[in-house]
Amino acid sequence: MYLGLDVGTSGLRALLVDGSGAVVGEAEASYPVAHPAPGWSEQDPADWIAACEATIAHLRADHPKAFAALRGIGLSGQMHGATLLDAEGAILRPCILWNDTRSYAEAQALDATPGVRERSGNIVFPGFTAPKLAWVARHEPEVFDRVAKVLLPKDYVRHWLTGDFIGDMSDCAGTSWLDTGTRDWSETLLAAGGMRRDQMPDLVEGSAPGGQVRGALLSAWGLSGPVVVAGGAGDNAAAACGAGCFRDGQGFVSLGTSGVLLAAKDSYAPDPASAVHTFCHAVPDTWYQMGVILAATDCLNWLSRTLRREPGELASRLPDSVTGPSPILFLPYLSGERTPHNDSAIRATFAGIDIADGPAELTQSVMEGVAFALRDCHEALKGTGTTLPSLLAVGGGTRSRFWVETLATVLNLPLDLPAKGEFGAALGAARLAIAADTGDPLSEIMGAPEISHTIDPRADLAPAYDEAYARYRALYPQMKAILT
Ligand code: XUL
Repeated sequence: MYLGLDVGTSGLRALLVDGSGAVVGEAEASYPVAHPAPGWSEQDPADWIAACEATIAHLRADHPKAFAALRGIGLSGQMHGATLLDAEGAILRPCILWNDTRSYAEAQALDATPGVRERSGNIVFPGFTAPKLAWVARHEPEVFDRVAKVLLPKDYVRHWLTGDFIGDMSDCAGTSWLDTGTRDWSETLLAAGGMRRDQMPDLVEGSAPGGQVRGALLSAWGLSGPVVVAGGAGDNAAAACGAGCFRDGQGFVSLGTSGVLLAAKDSYAPDPASAVHTFCHAVPDTWYQMGVILAATDCLNWLSRTLRREPGELASRLPDSVTGPSPILFLPYLSGERTPHNDSAIRATFAGIDIADGPAELTQSVMEGVAFALRDCHEALKGTGTTLPSLLAVGGGTRSRFWVETLATVLNLPLDLPAKGEFGAALGAARLAIAADTGDPLSEIMGAPEISHTIDPRADLAPAYDEAYARYRALYPQMKAILT
């Protein structure tokens, strides 16, 4: 038996699978995100540990026999968060999360430092880890001086599980301290950020062993062990493991809290200028590219809070099939944007609302705005020479058939919907645990999911959506001039 633990932004998901990767049980626990100031986003690492304890207790109670046969744990997590530990391993301040944009000035300065983009393969976005530490150095110097280790969220959970300080390349590539091509910490990048190698965890590949569960936990769980903890992965690489995306031409689009359009790569082909992210994959000698938008289902959640109607209720007001673009344009930049603009100051816009419009019309334009933003990501990936014949569609937003057909038509790509909702980052993490424990060929462990059906682009409506996309593109520079 193997356990996948996905340390998400809104909660932790634990998935118990057997040696073939089939799901035996699952448990979830949620925790809050604090926004103590505009653009800030923080979490208490103790909440992740409490969520681990709760979900594991749940799985032990529901599946005692299966849990007793546990051989390995795989970790996946929200990327980029800065978890700061002192020399005794105590937490120094709340974790600053991936969607926190307070360090935009520090990010700009690091990004402009010669050699930084070349070595990290990426723009230094404010959400990445290095500028957060530069912000702490400037604003909380007494904390900065005591930083003995910087861990990403899932690696803090590993530290609790094993006592070790270990990270994997896929997650660490999102720090701006890793040389993404050579898959090692870069002295140049660390020095540019005022950091040292001894403050970093040791590196392993995601599919390799990365520690053993410590004795005290084994006893508490009634296990004799050993239980290996795999290197694991940042959540997007883990989701790619769950979806079987490893080779050129394979990818997925995710309508989650954030939106991601990811393409696996056989080789290292960065293109930082386009705001495409290029990171190490969770398996050796493999990378991936992605465009990231900061708010996807988060936009619908925001509309839902604002209109005081559940997201599902809003979505249910729309038909199953699209009939053409909304006259209303929505720029989904509620928290600023990464791909393609790298603009933490921009904010969202509705344009063209009529007095007759109501919740259904606003919902349609929000879904379209997110689809257009993901088209921006696709165009950025295409600009690097990446081609994708089709994509798997994943994430909570795919429950809306209308949204998926909108997205397929806007991207002009067939979108495959998996038969079971079970795969995802937690399954990818569990698969990495199987790999770390058995050493079996990755091709046997990480197959593609069964597809229930494919949503094709609506060729008859493509010109109308192309025209709407052109209007959407034209709106950003104007709003930028007005708002920032
Ligand atoms: C990727 C990113 C997000 C988080 C969400 O660069 O910031 O997708 O990983 O958890």
